[in-house]
Amino acid sequence: MASGTEVSNAGDGVAPAPKDSLGWADKRSYPRRLRNMLALDDFETIARKVLPRPIYGYVSGGVETNASLRANRAVFDEIAFVPKMLTDTSKRSLKTTLFGRTYDAPFGFAPMGGTSLAAYQGDVVLARAAAAANIPMITSGASLTPLEKVREAGRTTWFQAYLPGENAVIAELIDRAARGGFDTLVVTLDVQVPSNRENNVRNGYNAPLRPTPRLAWDCCVRPRWLFGMFVRTLLTHGMPHFENMGPRTPLISSTGVRGRGRRDTLCWQHIEFIRKTWKGRLVLKGVLDPEDAHIASQSGIDGIIVSNHGGRQLDGAVAPLRALPAIAARASGMTVMMDSGIRRGTDVLKALALGADFVFVGRPILYAAVVGGEEGVAHAIKLLREEVDRDMALLGVASLDDMTTQRLVPACGAGFLP
Ligand SMILES: Cc1cc2nc3c(=O)[nH]c(=O)nc-3n(C[C@H](O)[C@H](O)[C@H](O)COP(=O)(O)O)c2cc1C
Repeated sequence: MASGTEVSNAGDGVAPAPKDSLGWADKRSYPRRLRNMLALDDFETIARKVLPRPIYGYVSGGVETNASLRANRAVFDEIAFVPKMLTDTSKRSLKTTLFGRTYDAPFGFAPMGGTSLAAYQGDVVLARAAAAANIPMITSGASLTPLEKVREAGRTTWFQAYLPGENAVIAELIDRAARGGFDTLVVTLDVQVPSNRENNVRNGYNAPLRPTPRLAWDCCVRPRWLFGMFVRTLLTHGMPHFENMGPRTPLISSTGVRGRGRRDTLCWQHIEFIRKTWKGRLVLKGVLDPEDAHIASQSGIDGIIVSNHGGRQLDGAVAPLRALPAIAARASGMTVMMDSGIRRGTDVLKALALGADFVFVGRPILYAAVVGGEEGVAHAIKLLREEVDRDMALLGVASLDDMTTQRLVPACGAGFLP
């Protein structure tokens, strides 16, 4: 830039909203209730005040000592960027093709059960917002909304299942998902047994919820949730039920038990059976071992999600970002996706550089639905898209394909970069 040329905005002197970018919004133009939501983490601060204690604890919690939950975030700080200067990024694009479909961002929504317990019609809200933004949402097999209704609401074609090692049960659910119009089946592997979520016990959370004086009190002191979500749901839709797995169990019951089947019997031979039975794309979620990725690639699996379930299953399970490079190296031909701990555009770009083709976000999206319903979720998507877009420009990366390990260094010490 010639000396003496004036830069219109103060500070670092970068003009926002280049013609081909997303046209970043002026933060003052955000809807009033979302005005202070400047980053994904901001939604949690408000959601914590809105949700009854047991429900906030269920969503936010990890397991046992929360070692994996913490590691999922900390691992991103072990990596620093090496930005490239003087590259024209004005035509940069976030468009990402996954399984033959082009999405408007390299991220989507991870499957979350109990979504409609936190936010009014949560599953439907998430599905609609994802469809409007042209990003994928994985419908949870543990949702309180029938899978067919979620599919109808947002045209999502991804369905996630928790499966026991029983071919008859597997066949029934697969058939239902296929008839419902889903074409991508995600089988979650890291739920062999219920995990040790002490925080649920401490906070009084149960699935189904047990009607106790303590639960009544916890709900009464959260009137926005009580009337805006719970009473409204009862009046317009009746008592929610766990809809997609085992017997249809009501959300609140003093005796009800959710049928889970024996998931600790699920093994590769069942995956073979699923592969033969399910005609669509097949994705395994919860892969952390490169050897498992290799076996999956030999078993006709289309994709894997490197995940430790957001630190909610095995405490101390390796952070997915750390496991990613070795897994990507052995995933020959499969699409590699990742979740757990993604909160920022920089996190998305680090994961892509380390071998992910795509990433999924969990908790913050649900908090966004709690804070602002569909508008809140749309806002969360916009924030993350703008961050990725801005970070690409600052990194000198015009295409997501150029996001390689060349742009990364260990923040300190040897690190785990390939
Ligand atoms: C409230 C909640 C419910 C979840 N339910 C499911 C589920 O039904 N199926 C599944 O495979 N994973 C489930 N997960 C895990 C997410 O799919 C995802 O792996 C995790 O949330 C990603 O981490 P993050 O929340 O740090 O982004 C759930 C997570 C949360 C927070």
